[in-house]
Amino acid sequence: MAFPESFLEELSARNDIADVVSNYVHLTKKSGANLFGLCPFHSEKTPSFSVNPERQIYHCFGCGKGGSVINFIMEIENLSFPDAVQFLAHRAGMEVPEDAPDENKSRRTRMLELNRAAARFFYEQLVAPTGRTAQEYAEKRAISGVMVRAFGLGYAPDSWNALTDAMEKLGYTRPEMLDAGLVRAGKSGGVYDYFRSRLMFPVIDVRGSVIGFSGRVLGDGEPKYLNSPDTLVYSKARSLFALNLAKKSKSGYIILSEGNIDVVSLHQAGFDSAVASLGTSLTSDQARLIARYTDQVIIAYDADEAGQKASQRAIGILQPLDLKVKVLRIPGSKDPDEFIRANGPSAFHSLLEHSGNQVEYRLDNIEEKYDLSEQEGRIGFLQESEKYLASIADNVVREIYIERVAEKANVNRDAVKNDVEHFRKKQTKSAKKQLDRNASSPLRAAQPPSRQLHYTNVRSAMAERGVLNLLCRFPELFNGVMLSGMDFSSEPMGRLYDALLRRVQDGRGVSPATLEGQFAPEELALLADILQNDAVTAAAAETALRDYINTIQAEKYKASGTEDLRGYAEKLKKTKGYGGKDGN
Ligand code: GTP
Ligand code: MN
Repeated sequence: MAFPESFLEELSARNDIADVVSNYVHLTKKSGANLFGLCPFHSEKTPSFSVNPERQIYHCFGCGKGGSVINFIMEIENLSFPDAVQFLAHRAGMEVPEDAPDENKSRRTRMLELNRAAARFFYEQLVAPTGRTAQEYAEKRAISGVMVRAFGLGYAPDSWNALTDAMEKLGYTRPEMLDAGLVRAGKSGGVYDYFRSRLMFPVIDVRGSVIGFSGRVLGDGEPKYLNSPDTLVYSKARSLFALNLAKKSKSGYIILSEGNIDVVSLHQAGFDSAVASLGTSLTSDQARLIARYTDQVIIAYDADEAGQKASQRAIGILQPLDLKVKVLRIPGSKDPDEFIRANGPSAFHSLLEHSGNQVEYRLDNIEEKYDLSEQEGRIGFLQESEKYLASIADNVVREIYIERVAEKANVNRDAVKNDVEHFRKKQTKSAKKQLDRNASSPLRAAQPPSRQLHYTNVRSAMAERGVLNLLCRFPELFNGVMLSGMDFSSEPMGRLYDALLRRVQDGRGVSPATLEGQFAPEELALLADILQNDAVTAAAAETALRDYINTIQAEKYKASGTEDLRGYAEKLKKTKGYGGKDGN
């Protein structure tokens, strides 16, 4: 959705970033123009989160997040861009201009209403007599009527047009259904129902809106699950199935499982804090979403090898957010659902109580590979465990588990400890080498915080950063400057430059909020990062700018190579008439 720039400008003027952020973060004035506080997006003990009221940006040099007030609200409230705009407009008492002036509802609202209507339709199909096959399947999976209602489960009938027809009767158009991912375009220009003959799980966000669907085949068949595509209102990577229910749980932890059926089964057994990611492996956005509601996560993935690998990955994503992570081992069953059905809720409860922390989990996994009654097995177990123990930074934790590994392998504790210390030294050495390598390669060290962005030419990129910084701080210097975003080695910085320069030339301010929606969040975070730098003073700005421009042009010239150089000279002749007498 595109909002007029003038509207975004006014929106950001009426929502002072320091005011808005103060509602979430305790800000104190430290030095210079910036206010500081503890970053709300990652866990820290000393403030690396700053707000610059003059430039109306925030930036965290710990986690790299940054941008305008709109981006801040998107991140902290977990809202889409249009929703964040709505949120801030409401806060400032402003009207949001509509996309289509004759329609008094946004596309987003329409889509959410359509999804809700579809969910209701699916539910009605499930409880109707004609939904017998689906009812039988739910019964076979031991899903109770209470759970059907709590989750709003449904049945997509075995029909190519049942949903399409029902939604058309309610006034929704086919393009709207296509946009919502509920139907597909057929060859002959018509549309057909995407979900057919499936048990339907609506995906409901934390505000209670139906944002998408998962549909499971009734029994065997491929694909087992169909999921809604990402839409205006649905992003799989940022949503979790059942978080709408789990967020109300009093358990103090969240159970992360793999399957929709597992989640339903867990809730039914009283574990009301179970969620699942939706046909993707856990993303860091999902992890942050979890971190908003709890500080402890219990991973209860499938017992197979894929599930164990996925657990390992999930630990790596959850731990950096300072979440306490435990991993459940499910003995004798393939997943939580099967375990509960075989052993009952109280057995699962004791699994939860005894679920190990990640060190125990890793050691258990290693132990499983070896036969400790054989000497050979003990040696293999020891070697692998010692290597792993060496990677544990916490001295106390390391000591405890050295003890335990020694006991298990029935060897002397000091022998294990010696080996572990030996491995530790080796590891530190290679880590140091890596650091030295980084230091000697500015290319690697100077890369921007976001992995999505990458500088191909660091020399030029540093100058490009300088130009963007000066453009925002001293726009008056840019009158008549002959530099275009095309000259930049970094494509996103080039686009940022063009967009900002256009504003300056139109005599408008360079408020970063007006760029929201046109640039990716990581690109605006990069801009916020660049704007943090006050190193170049007003007195030195003009000279610095000239240097930057020279560097950018020289690097471009170098990169173009000799072949292109000739072409470049030709082009100069033609466009600028530099060619002397014979130029045309
Ligand atoms: P049961 O086998 O009935 O217990 O199903 P389940 O809900 O436990 O799902 P399973 O463990 O097989 O898969 C875990 C999750 O992966 C599911 O909930 C889906 O989100 C996703 N998934 C499974 N199969 C498919 C598939 O065929 N396509 C897609 N896109 N996702 C799938
Ligand atoms: Mn399963």
